[in-house]
Amino acid sequence: MASIVLGVSGGIASYKAAELLRLLTESGHSVRVVPTESSLHFVGAATWEALSGQPVQVGVFQNVEEVPHVRIGQSADLVLVAPATANTLAKAAHGLADDLLTNTLLTARCPVMFAPAMHTEMWENAATQANVETLRSRGHVVLEPAVGRLTGVDTGKGRLPAPAEIYAAAVNVLAGREQDLMGRRVVVSAGGTREFLDPVRYLGNRSSGRQGFALAEAAVARGASVTVVAANVSLPRPAGVDVVDVVSTEQLREQMHLAAADADAVVMAAAPADFRPAEFVDAKIKKTADGVAPQIHLVENPDILVELVAARTSKRPVIVGFAAETGDATASVIEHARAKLARKGCDLLVVNDVSAGKVFGQEDSEAVLLGADGSVTQFAHGPKSDLAHQVWDAVVQRLD
Ligand code: CTP
Repeated sequence: MASIVLGVSGGIASYKAAELLRLLTESGHSVRVVPTESSLHFVGAATWEALSGQPVQVGVFQNVEEVPHVRIGQSADLVLVAPATANTLAKAAHGLADDLLTNTLLTARCPVMFAPAMHTEMWENAATQANVETLRSRGHVVLEPAVGRLTGVDTGKGRLPAPAEIYAAAVNVLAGREQDLMGRRVVVSAGGTREFLDPVRYLGNRSSGRQGFALAEAAVARGASVTVVAANVSLPRPAGVDVVDVVSTEQLREQMHLAAADADAVVMAAAPADFRPAEFVDAKIKKTADGVAPQIHLVENPDILVELVAARTSKRPVIVGFAAETGDATASVIEHARAKLARKGCDLLVVNDVSAGKVFGQEDSEAVLLGADGSVTQFAHGPKSDLAHQVWDAVVQRLD
């Protein structure tokens, strides 16, 4: 089990760090809490001592004989700062060391992770963004804050991600995942689009968004800055991911083009509806007295994957498609997939065999990865998170 330093800086979200601490200690880790002076206005040292079973110290001038300002950082397997305020991020980015937490950050040789929490204005401020950029460029993991209710009446981006989500991200970092997507921006689409016929009815599909979210989580664990464009996904949001919600294929298309413009890699794991009703009827379509069913005229949606490939000017971003295939009388699953890869023009195609309802909404998945260079990689049957990491392995190779 790991030795973790939990840095707590001074924001109202510091009460949530108590829950995070419990998750860490209950899974067997030894946690030393290092709060900042201002955080003690929100949660007192007694809470941290009782929950962690370890002494708590804020400054560097107590227990000097133990040289805590150096030892704590040196012996940690992970330093996790949650919540990380704008002030603490700034100090960390500039190497200031005026309390035990900032000294610990300077002496840590282990992975360092920040879970920022602040008001939207502070998060979006150019100074904070530059500090986040600096920290990420040094290999630190900085999670994206969540969007939601902030202190007072405000809502927006800046909320501390849920403790369980920070915990999951920390476990990934502790698992020693190489930070090979550090400094990279990746975009993943997830879920299934809906095309409305009238205000209450739509054409949709069975995609749950699980695979897309697993890809996003895996990319965060490897240090990437991740945007997920999520079409009707009702799963919990992965920590540290910027989630953009969409409903229709047209909205997915627009957001994917925006996000892909400066991305290093794009994965189209979403299932966009191939067709949409030619018209949207403003009022609910009623049954007719003569019992004649309405005819629905469909038109084809644009192929977002093909468009993203066409829009790139160089080999950036690396583009990955997904294909859910069934074999038929004309060709096998792989033959259909090879033809699709050629048609779409992407670099990699993850091929799922969906005969007999496999894959949709399930935890596990089984797939083959086809490369435009002719490569074929058979993935072992396993959780979607394993498949996600194997996809990123292939992407990383193509980034270098
Ligand atoms: N895709 C897309 N835009 C669409 C349809 C599909 O970007 N309008 C993407 C999917 O996200 C996926 C890949 O294309 O990454 C393959 O999707 P699939 O539905 O298998 O491809 P289709 O071209 O619709 O092929 P098929 O005729 O087999 O349905």
